[in-house]
Amino acid sequence: MGAFKSGMFDPGRVFRCSPAKPQMFTAVKKLRKKIFMLKKIKKILLFEKHTCPWWLAYTWDNRIRPFFQNADIILKPYMNSGITALDVGCGMGYFSIHMSKYIGEEGKVISVDIQKEMLEILKRRTEKSGLDNIIKPILSQGDLSGISERIDFALNFWMLHEVDSQKKMVKQIYDLLNPGGKYLIAEPIIHTSNKYFESIIEMCNEVGFIVESNPKITFSRSVLLSKQKVV
Ligand SMILES: C[S@@+](CC[C@H](N)C(=O)[O-])C[C@H]1O[C@@H](n2cnc3c(N)ncnc32)[C@H](O)[C@@H]1O
Repeated sequence: MGAFKSGMFDPGRVFRCSPAKPQMFTAVKKLRKKIFMLKKIKKILLFEKHTCPWWLAYTWDNRIRPFFQNADIILKPYMNSGITALDVGCGMGYFSIHMSKYIGEEGKVISVDIQKEMLEILKRRTEKSGLDNIIKPILSQGDLSGISERIDFALNFWMLHEVDSQKKMVKQIYDLLNPGGKYLIAEPIIHTSNKYFESIIEMCNEVGFIVESNPKITFSRSVLLSKQKVV
């Protein structure tokens, strides 16, 4: 400061004293956030590989969803009281919550996601409906290495296309499943091709799964797999 005589222009002073400084930082921060969101939306629209951001989840997980994806109809055939179910890529918990109602306090739903914001919303929802003792949320780094419980049913709903090491995940699910256990995969039609889905089924066969059926789920390509019972 001393180097500048009074009346002389001091560039540092503009940043040190200007009341516009914090506003400018906030504006830059907001702009960066907007650019980040726009980049994500562009990726989604161009069908590039992406993790679905938590702030976009309400576009499909809302009050209208049960009219086109009724979780009771989708899950009921595989649900029994007391089983352990795994919902990988659970998001805000649409399916986890429905599962827990069938499974009850004798069983467990392990809900895994890589985004803590998704799990926070899930926690709020489960606490509200008193299901927090049945649902165990797990924040993962992208795989299932932190899970040791044996499971009876696994779900990957609209998430496998977001996973980098799909075969690793499918193999981990296979290893966690009890013999006779079921595994339902549903992928969104909008993000996946028929050819892609056939390659997923082929990979599941390689891992050891048996194809049971292709349940009809709106806007989805789906397959129900099972792990053979040891005779
Ligand atoms: C499109 S959302 C679907 C959420 C939920 N299954 C549903 O149908 O409402 C995909 C979710 O998978 C999660 N996800 C992506 N990759 C994952 C991974 N490797 N492990 C666990 N979750 C993952 C994302 O964070 C996101 O919450």
